[in-house]
This record gives sequence, structure tokens and C-alpha cells, in this order.
Amino acid sequence: MPGFSYQPEALVAEDIDAWLELHRTKSLLRFITCGSVDDGKSTLIGRLLYESRAIFVDQLDALEADSKRVGTQGQEIDFALLVDGLAAEREQGITIDVAYRYFSTERRKFIVADTPGHEQYTRNMATAASTADLAIILVDARKGVLTQTRRHSTLAHLLGVRHLVLAVNKMDLVDYGKERFDTIVEAYRAFANGIGIADFTAMPISGFKGDGITSPSPNMPWFSGPGLLQHLETVEVTLAADQGKPFRMPVQWVNRPSPDFRGFSGLIASGTVKPGDPLRILPSGKTSTLARIVTADGDLRQAVAGQSVTLTLADDVDCSRGDVIAAADSPPQVSDQFEATLLWMDEQEMIPGRAYWLKIGTQNVSATVQPPKYQVNVNTLEHLAAKTLDLNAIGVVTLTTDRPIVFEPYAESRTLGGFILIDKMSHATVAAGMLQFALRRAQNVHWQALDISREAHAGLKNQRPAVLWFTGLSGSGKSTIANLVEKKLYRMNRHTFLLDGDNVRHGLNKDLGFTEADRIENIRRVGEVARLMADAGLIVITAFISPFRAERAMVRNLLPPGEFLEVFIDTPLAVAEARDVKGLYRKARAGTLKNFTGIDSPYEAPENPEIRIDTTAMSPQAAAEQIVERLLGDR
Ligand code: ADX
Repeated sequence: MPGFSYQPEALVAEDIDAWLELHRTKSLLRFITCGSVDDGKSTLIGRLLYESRAIFVDQLDALEADSKRVGTQGQEIDFALLVDGLAAEREQGITIDVAYRYFSTERRKFIVADTPGHEQYTRNMATAASTADLAIILVDARKGVLTQTRRHSTLAHLLGVRHLVLAVNKMDLVDYGKERFDTIVEAYRAFANGIGIADFTAMPISGFKGDGITSPSPNMPWFSGPGLLQHLETVEVTLAADQGKPFRMPVQWVNRPSPDFRGFSGLIASGTVKPGDPLRILPSGKTSTLARIVTADGDLRQAVAGQSVTLTLADDVDCSRGDVIAAADSPPQVSDQFEATLLWMDEQEMIPGRAYWLKIGTQNVSATVQPPKYQVNVNTLEHLAAKTLDLNAIGVVTLTTDRPIVFEPYAESRTLGGFILIDKMSHATVAAGMLQFALRRAQNVHWQALDISREAHAGLKNQRPAVLWFTGLSGSGKSTIANLVEKKLYRMNRHTFLLDGDNVRHGLNKDLGFTEADRIENIRRVGEVARLMADAGLIVITAFISPFRAERAMVRNLLPPGEFLEVFIDTPLAVAEARDVKGLYRKARAGTLKNFTGIDSPYEAPENPEIRIDTTAMSPQAAAEQIVERLLGDR
């Protein structure tokens, strides 16, 4: 870039107001630096801050609010001290945090995420990469491409970072040699092409000496490209690219200040809109036309990606939080089954079959994951067989949501393709994921409308359907009491069916054992069967240990409100063990039976069961009477 003159923040001293205005309208580039401390990461960041004469504050906003501080420019900052400070800060935060630093030049604002490099911090790096426009992959010119270079590149690529810079650092220590640089770039290109990275920008630099940062280095006349900072100032930011894509806005909330105004508020994820544009609301598919773009400062004639706005529509169509408003002629897809890449971020491994909350854009649904198709080796992208995913593991899974969601493949939209999974009990974020594509079977399997409704089925039997879901330890008395309950109901001409754990495990579920995953699948299947039987108008009684709250909650959610009654057969472990009807506790204690509930496999007691039976204080007969009374009381 000949003639590129570098005058950092010259305007600040002359006209502070003009500078602040310029600052506000400058584009923002978010980038991450990947590499270990040895690769000179802190030195490079220090160099970027130093060379940009960074106005060195924690927050850009704070800077704008306090214009007096702008006067204290970084000019006087000592480079060595700056790097020492950064390194010390990094070390203190190394165990968990990503350090975000802000700086700006005349052309652009920057947020750089300094991420820890080790494999055990994969999730931290992924978090930072998920919002980055660019990644600097730092390589020590003396060492070349290392395993961690490959891991960082793989992650950046997976997380959709659009621009990769291979910064070959410490060129001063290899005598600024062109050959060394070329060898490293070729080795990297071979790897990058292999994992699908089509393009990257290679640059020779010395963070320590300052070569190749603000301008091409006179020490490396053989390199014709710009300096690193120049590249960072001119590369296209993701937001600008998103503005050229079809219009999408996930609805954050419905704005209804008065009966005659209904606006839909949200952040525009991509594209441009103006009044009169035909729009489609998803997942319903209803269409309308954009009436107004309302903001606090008056109506806009046009709005683009990155802006938060309130839209009003020409027609009174249904639209609520979680829906997506899109260009009518090129809407995003809708599906409930996907292939997705997951990065597991929790200490507790992924549990196939368990329902997690899935948050994508402004949508919040329940989702279950199948066992991984394969796990990805983050150093090589090689596929490995896996039954689950542990902390920091990346794998490809099939994922099913309980209702259709509006999405786009992650490669096209981070907003509509990137999601997180949340544990329903602990509320911890357990995974970050990227939707790859919808499975075709989701599109080809439709609900068939049935002429005889569940109401008709139940009406003929003259009863209201219900599921009496017994839960409790092995030997607690579930089967005994459930049998008595069924007999009573039968005598009262009720149409019932009893599903019992020991019996179902001889047929429908004979392929399942007692691992956590198998128990979850056991309950999922029984829950679905119970639902079908309730649809047929029956009163279903189930007797399964069903040790996990999450799966009992899942079955509850399968049924209309009020039809699921959780019956906790509350027998203390000591009592069940003393009875030991089937001799299984003895085996479990002896160590010959593994994963036994209450011994070496957990039981999560219900917190708010509809019915609780204390078997130490009540006979089975009395218990059955109490349950039938409660069931028929409101029926
Ligand atoms: S659940 O945990 O998946 O709900 P389920 O109710 O179907 O269990 O089956 C429990 C019955 O299987 C017990 O009553 C017992 O007879 C038998 N069983 C065999 N092995 C185990 C085990 N490891 N843990 C619990 N029950 C076991």
C-alpha cells in the first residue's frame, strides 16, 4: 500500500468533538489472537496497542463519556512496560478468562480477545472466536506450524471466523529470511486446504522489533503486502458483509404501548429493509408488508444489519417473540431435526437422549441430542468414534427440537445458525453449537390429522385420560401399589393400562441396560407410549424407578396440563434394602451388580409430586385408596 500515511489519532489534539464523532461512526473489527505466550502473543498485542497510540482505557464507552481522558494519549507509554503489564495480567487470568482489549486508530475501532492457548481452554477460545471477524494465528518463525497452530485454526474455521491471518512472528530471529517464511506458509497452506480453509493472509512480522506492523518492513523488502495493522484496518468486517444478505430480524419483543400500535422489536441480523418491502414471518410463513421503521428519533427510510429497530406491518398478522421476520422471497428454513456440530463446555459429559434448553437467536426450545456420529480431533479434524462428548470435546450429532425453529446454516448466519444448550436443572450453559443442515426426514415426515380425536376416544370411555407416573427406588413398592390402583379403577369401570418396568424391559426395551443413557432412553420410550395410550383415552399407570428429574419433567411436558400426576413412592433406601424382595441390593452391595439405583447410581427424588406416599406410615391398600381418590377427585 504505497503512500499509506500513518497518523494515529492526530485529530484528537486538534478537534476533540470532530474526533469523537468520527470515532462513533468508525467500523468495529473484532479479532482474536491465537498462540501461546512463547509465540509472542503479549508482545504482539502490546505492539498493536503501542503503535496505534491506543487510547488506553477499559471501555470505549467510558472513553467517549470522559473526553478529558482522551488527552492522555499513549504516546508516552513505554513499550516494554506495556508488554510486561499485559503479560502479568494474562498470567493472572490465564485459568479461565479471555482478556478483551480495546483500541482504535483513525480508521477503525478494535476489540481484541486475547485467549488462552492450551487445549483445556478450548471453550474459552471458542467463545471469543464465535464473535470474531478475524483471527491472527501466531507462529514463531523458528518453530513453524505446531499442533496448537492447527488446533487454533481448526477452531477459528469451525466457528466461522471469516478472515485468517497467519502472522509469522520473530522474523528478526531468523534474519528476516524469505525462505523461512515461505516454507512456513507452504506447510500451513497444505494443512489449511486439507481442512477446508480456502483463504488466509500470511504476513512476516516482528512484534518485538515492530517490523511489518504499521507498514511494510524495510528489513523485508521481499514482502509486498501491507503491515498487519493496515490489514486490520481495511479487511471487510462481518457486519458489512451481512448487510448484503437477505433480510432477517429475530423478534426480541412485541412492542404494544397502545391498542392501535403493534411493533416488532429486534436487532437486524442481516440485510436491508424499507417500508413497502414484502415480508414473511416464520415459522408460520404468513406474509405482510413493512409499514414503518420506528426509532426513538423518528421513522427511518431504511434500516440495515446491526441496527436495533421496531417494525410495524401493514396487516394484523400473528407474530411474537422468537419468530423471525424475513424477506418474503428468500426466507430462512424451518425444521426440527438437524445435523449440528457441538462443542461441549460442561464438566458433566453430554447425555444422549436428555432434553436440554436450546437458545438460538431469540428462540428458546427443548432439544435432545443423539449419541455423536463422531468426535472431531481438534488438532487434525480427524473423525473419532465416540459415545458421548466430554469437556472441550467437539463432535457432530443429530439434534431434535420439540417444535420447529427458524434457522440458517451457521456458515451463512451466526445469529440463526449458532446456538447454546442449557441444562434444565442447573441452568448452566453446557454446549455451544452450530447447525449444519436440516435432516431431510424432518421435512418428509408430517403430522397426519386424525378424524377420531383424543377427546372422542376418551368420550367413548366416559373418562378423562391421565398418566399416574410412579417413581421411587427399586423395592419401594411401586409395582405393588400400582397393581392395587389398577384393580380399584377396573372395578369402577375405568379403562386402564399398567406399564411396569420389569415387564417393559422384557419386550419394547429389552435392548436397554442401566447406564444413565439407557435409563433416559427407557423413560423416553415409556413416556411416548404413555402419551399414545392417553391419546387413546386410557388412564395409564407406570411403575419405573425413573431416577432423573429431567426425564420425568420431559414426560410431563408431553402431556396436556393436569394429565400427568407424579406419584412419589417414598421409601427410604434403608427400608427398601432391608426388604430386598429380589435380592438385588445384596448383589449391589457385594459389587456383583453395577449401577444400582441408590447404591452406585443416583436417585433424584421429586420436589413437588402431585402425590407422595410414605410407605413406612401407610399400608399398600391405604396408599392405593389415597391415589385413586386424588385421581378421581377432579375427574
Ligand atoms: S429405570 O431406572 O430405567 O427407570 P426400571 O424401573 O425400568 O429402571 O427397572 C428397574 C428394575 O430393574 C428394578 O426394579 C430391578 O428389578 C431391575 N434392575 C436390574 N438392574 C438394576 C440396576 N442396576 N438398577 C436398578 N434396577 C435394576
